[in-house]
Amino acid sequence: MTHSLAVLVSGTGRHLENLADLALDEQADFDAEVSVVLSNRTGVAALDRAARFGLRAEVLEGAEGESVESYGRRVFDVVRDAGADTVVLAGFLKKLWIPADFAGRVINIHPSLLPAFGGKGYFGMNVHRAVLERGCQVSGCTVHLVDEVYDNGPILLQRWCAVEPEDSAEDLAARVFQEELLALPEALRRFWRR
Ligand code: GAR
Repeated sequence: MTHSLAVLVSGTGRHLENLADLALDEQADFDAEVSVVLSNRTGVAALDRAARFGLRAEVLEGAEGESVESYGRRVFDVVRDAGADTVVLAGFLKKLWIPADFAGRVINIHPSLLPAFGGKGYFGMNVHRAVLERGCQVSGCTVHLVDEVYDNGPILLQRWCAVEPEDSAEDLAARVFQEELLALPEALRRFWRR
């Protein structure tokens, strides 16, 4: 069965590109299509990438004073309309409310070995700076199911890498991202096989 992905983004969209590439690659053992890309911000590179792949893309900005639930309802209206069966948060940095029919079908990738360096404020480069400040010798990434608490749901897959003594946050981010590129598709394959 070909799975239908809704990919939610806020920024660069390298994961979106990786998933869209894999979906087009018949040798990739990745039986999926990206049916919609949803961004909470206008003008981000992820939307340019979506356009290059000819993907349906929607921008849904949070309205002033809008509740998390109201925003989530609008997001899942689009997800359902696109016929998606799985939602991937690929660098999506807004809190997401999940309706009952999508519970257990929303997957996030986070650039640390959760439960370390997760939760509010830990996103992107902040994570890698905190890992270096703490003197960690390993780092990595976590793919997990999303529940109502930030970076909290059951873990599907983790991949780790060394932290080198001279690493800048950017060096570490780049090394972790190489693991992320493998972790997210592999976690999806495993998730779909369950
Ligand atoms: C990725 O490194 C992802 O792990 C991180 O944002 C980046 C998105 O990159 N997500 C978080 O920090 C979530 N808390 P991309 O937009 O280039 O795919």
